[in-house]
Amino acid sequence: MQILVTGGAGFIGSNFVHHLVRHTDATVTVLDKLTYAASREALAGLPGDRVRLVVGDVADAEVVEPLVAEHDVVVHYAAESHNDNSLDDPSPFIRTNLLGTFTLLEAVRKADVRLHHVSTDEVYGDLALDDPKKFTEDTPYTPSSPYSASKAGSDHLVRAWVRSFGVRATISNCSNNYGPWQHVEKFIPRQITEVLDGRRPKLYGSGENVRDWIHTEDHSSAVLTILEKGRIGETYLIGAEGERSNLEVVRLILQLMGRDPDDFEHVTDRAGHDLRYAIDAGKLRTELGWVPQYGDFEAGLAQTVAWYREHEAWWRPGKDATEAAYAAKGQ
Ligand code: NAD
Ligand code: DAU
Repeated sequence: MQILVTGGAGFIGSNFVHHLVRHTDATVTVLDKLTYAASREALAGLPGDRVRLVVGDVADAEVVEPLVAEHDVVVHYAAESHNDNSLDDPSPFIRTNLLGTFTLLEAVRKADVRLHHVSTDEVYGDLALDDPKKFTEDTPYTPSSPYSASKAGSDHLVRAWVRSFGVRATISNCSNNYGPWQHVEKFIPRQITEVLDGRRPKLYGSGENVRDWIHTEDHSSAVLTILEKGRIGETYLIGAEGERSNLEVVRLILQLMGRDPDDFEHVTDRAGHDLRYAIDAGKLRTELGWVPQYGDFEAGLAQTVAWYREHEAWWRPGKDATEAAYAAKGQ
């Protein structure tokens, strides 16, 4: 099996490539533009006869079409992924997330290659804190940010290519990932590295916003399960019962790092900040038998804290520029 993984040098994509190497016999090609969010180090140490990196843009048909035709399956992670960046400048989000997905869809259509499209729970907008409902595959799309709107658009493109052209595709919408190799712009790595740098974690607004955390390894096992057993044309929600408020997460990080749990600060809130995400992964569990392995969020977070302590040489180069950009916005 030859698998093309777009965005495979990013946080979740690189963890997925490691997962494929450990759990399958597949040979893997990573197609990645190597933006600021990518990391060659995340792919270091993988067997050279099973994994290769092609540096290129998923929106470039001249690169994408011949490459796709050499593979049996494409797993599409490549995206601009950070909400705050999409508020500062939406244009790369439209190009990569919409035009990139369109380019890939045309390539899989021409070569008749199976596609799995990796998407986000943010396409469903947000929930009230006291809403007993969670997102399901039937929840209407109401994205809030330029990022989530671009991902929502990409999902609609995939569905249209399935229905109109018979493209063999599946979609997954996952909740917030955490784990190794996540860029320091994101919430959990930012707060861990702030504490390591002797500063205080920074909560947007009140900190009551809830995210449904899943370890990236569980995301990878879910995507592999969908590749192996998912029904073409179907969407599967991925989540692991990990709802926590941002305030709870910050207090836990401080505790795990031996600091006063109240030693954080409130900073300017994100514009249009979604209040709560919550996933009902019942379809994936019941239909495909998927079970997450990282049920204990506190243990997974402790491992992640240890990973960032041990990998300062990796995150340090991006840290100062990231903090300077946040500081300019009062965040
Ligand atoms: P990331 O920003 O860490 O990595 C994205 C990768 O895509 C990078 O390696 C980057 O270089 C590459 N890329 C960007 N533009 C490209 C282009 N035009 N052509 C080729 N490669 C390009 O993102 P992530 O957090 O790993 O997210 C990966 C995917 O998972 C995205 O599609 C995202 O929407 C989705 N997702 C993320 C989360 C999360 O919590 N981070 C949750 C659910 C879904
Ligand atoms: O739900 C899935 C989504 O999760 C993915 O589609 C996105 O790619 C991914 O980035 C993530 O989006 P969020 O916006 O939820 O993640 P982020 O890490 O940016 O922020 C998590 C929460 O923490 C959110 O409520 C904003 C808040 N936050 C974030 C930062 C960076 C803070 O309070 N302080 C911060 O410094």
